[in-house]
Amino acid sequence: MSQSILLGVSGGIAAYKSVDLVRRLRERGHTVRVAMTQSAQSFVTPLTFQAVSGHPVGCDLLDAATEAAMDHISLARFADQIVIAPASADIMARLAQGMANDLLTAVCLASTAPIALVPAMNHRMWHNPLTQANVQRLKQFGFAIWGPAEGAQACGEYGLGRLLEPEEIVQCIEKKISNSPLHGKTIVITAGPTREPLDPVRFISNRSSGKMGYALAQAATQCGAKVILISGPTALTPPKGAQFVSVETALEMHQAVMQHVQNSDIFLGAAAVADFRPSENSTQKSTKQSVGSSLAITVNPDIIHAVGQLNPKPVIIGFAAQTEALESKARSKRIEKNMDVIIANQVGHVEGGFDSDMNSVDVYTAEEATHFDLQPKVELAHRLIEWIGHYYGKKTKHSTENIR
Ligand code: PMT
Repeated sequence: MSQSILLGVSGGIAAYKSVDLVRRLRERGHTVRVAMTQSAQSFVTPLTFQAVSGHPVGCDLLDAATEAAMDHISLARFADQIVIAPASADIMARLAQGMANDLLTAVCLASTAPIALVPAMNHRMWHNPLTQANVQRLKQFGFAIWGPAEGAQACGEYGLGRLLEPEEIVQCIEKKISNSPLHGKTIVITAGPTREPLDPVRFISNRSSGKMGYALAQAATQCGAKVILISGPTALTPPKGAQFVSVETALEMHQAVMQHVQNSDIFLGAAAVADFRPSENSTQKSTKQSVGSSLAITVNPDIIHAVGQLNPKPVIIGFAAQTEALESKARSKRIEKNMDVIIANQVGHVEGGFDSDMNSVDVYTAEEATHFDLQPKVELAHRLIEWIGHYYGKKTKHSTENIR
């Protein structure tokens, strides 16, 4: 699967090897853009990377000429994967502190893409406890560290600190995608609210922003899954690489899900589907007199329950948004709606849940419970998708064993 890769190049003699890395990635069909630190430019010129990548190279955070097309936000959006090779001790220290004092660190801070660091430095710098503390901190925050390799160093010494060879870096990138149990699987994800019209100008809806479902769709796409994102109205841009189906009402979402869920491997219901709709959808704007003092409502189909009736059915994962008795209500919902997994989020007067950038969830299956602390939804989505990958791998292994 071809990816949009942002290659960050920081200062070090090994920077020349990254020219070959760009060439190899492009040969495999990946789109590569390059961002360089100031010191990297002392080793290799931006023009060299421009020639091999076929794109202008980002060098400055505050550059009026590039701000319109190549600013840190566009580069952050472009990347499915960020790889910094070589990663010097300096850039690792700055990233570990959350600094954004040049283009490359700002892109890393602004991006939701996974970031891999490929260190290259003198072996004593690598073993220094400060560098090692930074490595641990970066790992805690989800950065992957590939290498370094051991061998003769440019300074004439021998030790651990060499950049991995370009072909090894390519393999790390491609293995990361193809190693996920979700690689090549079809995942249907619902997201956002539904709108239930009362007349041409009014509707019943809820506070769902779609952020949780879109973040899950993006994380699943980055694992090499084929994602079909079915979304109610939101202000978000659909993730690159996902098939996008836009709907408005619960009835439309129900129809779109039933059309796409056949032959899927996983159904993930993150949408806040309206449980009911006004029984009348007037073609004219309603008046106080026409509506009266009560509104007749009709119950909407339960989409996830309908998916649970399919035979064969995909692995079904739902969300439960509860204001009270979170665990017991979520667990009962899982059983009532024939779900394999329920992801419960507390909503109401707590941080997270609806229309927030943050969320904290508890995941329940018939056998186990796993808690995920409050964190940005984009990070939580990566952790949930990793959890779902393990669960799916275990579940499908067992069912194959049972068949045998
Ligand atoms: O969109 P955000 O602002 O990022 O907020 C995320 C979220 C809080 C909306 C999300 O994390 C979440 O909890 N989504 C489910 C909210 C919900 O409506 O839960 P529920 O308890 O009403 O429904 C349980 C499950 O049944 C859900 O998977 C829901 O998609 C599904 N359902 C509900 C009703 C219905 N008619 N059909 C369904 O499929």
